[in-house]
Amino acid sequence: MSNFETIVYEKLDGVGHITLNRPQALNAYNLQMRDELYQVLAAIRDDPEVKVAIFKGAGEKAFCAGADLTEFLTAPSPVAARQVRWERDVWGLFLSIAKPLIAALHGYVLGSGIEIALCCDIRLASEDAQFGVPEAGLGIIPAAGGSQTLPRVIGRAKALEVLLTGRWINAEEARRLKLVNQVVPRHDLLPAAEGLAKKIKAYNPIALCYVKQAITRGLDLSLEKGLELEANLANYLSNLNK
Ligand code: COA
Repeated sequence: MSNFETIVYEKLDGVGHITLNRPQALNAYNLQMRDELYQVLAAIRDDPEVKVAIFKGAGEKAFCAGADLTEFLTAPSPVAARQVRWERDVWGLFLSIAKPLIAALHGYVLGSGIEIALCCDIRLASEDAQFGVPEAGLGIIPAAGGSQTLPRVIGRAKALEVLLTGRWINAEEARRLKLVNQVVPRHDLLPAAEGLAKKIKAYNPIALCYVKQAITRGLDLSLEKGLELEANLANYLSNLNK
């Protein structure tokens, strides 16, 4: 178990467990969490023992209540911020991980919280989950990929509605919008995520990576190019299996 200050990272039997761990601040995403998340994501990407990962939030009330408002507008100058982003592109790294990622979401899932969830492949929510993107109301725009990932998951019109109005979505609506795959009672959330991880980790990890790539990269391509990508990946896989 690696204990950072804002994240707990555990590796249990092929599954990486990442817990956002600032429950006193509803797991708000601060600069330290950004730096620690970057290290954890690199570990998930590079560690062959980790086949699949589960993201969750500590405490009863929240997965993550968004960017830490006490740090709001205390970021360095735009030049320094761009330099940091260049050196430590957390969201680029998150979306580039080829392994399956599961989000187990409860309570408040706001701002960066929903954006972390959108970087995952399968989202499970408990019945108490509430989703929102409050950035526009704060005079800013999502900066963790949300303006791109949300419309790709729930479609353009709904994403615009949620982003422009700041309206919150409860778990049941999130399921209807396909923002989450499944809604379960609170006490079933982690067992459900662990059950999925157990099933996934039993499969050939390279096949899983290729399936994920075929879908995530393919969706940004024309159908023709997507089919080409699928054929290439299938070909690589059959060569590896020879
Ligand atoms: N950044 C920093 N601290 C936060 C936080 C955030 N985004 N969200 C909650 N907290 C802190 C609160 O300040 C409070 O700390 P305190 O106990 O020291 O006073 C603690 O977490 C509990 O939050 P509280 O507001 O008392 O809980 P609540 O259940 O009454 O309300 C929310 C929950 C999520 C509705 C409310 O905390 C909120 O609106 N948070 C901000 C959400 C937001 O705008 N995020 C930024 C997105 S860009």
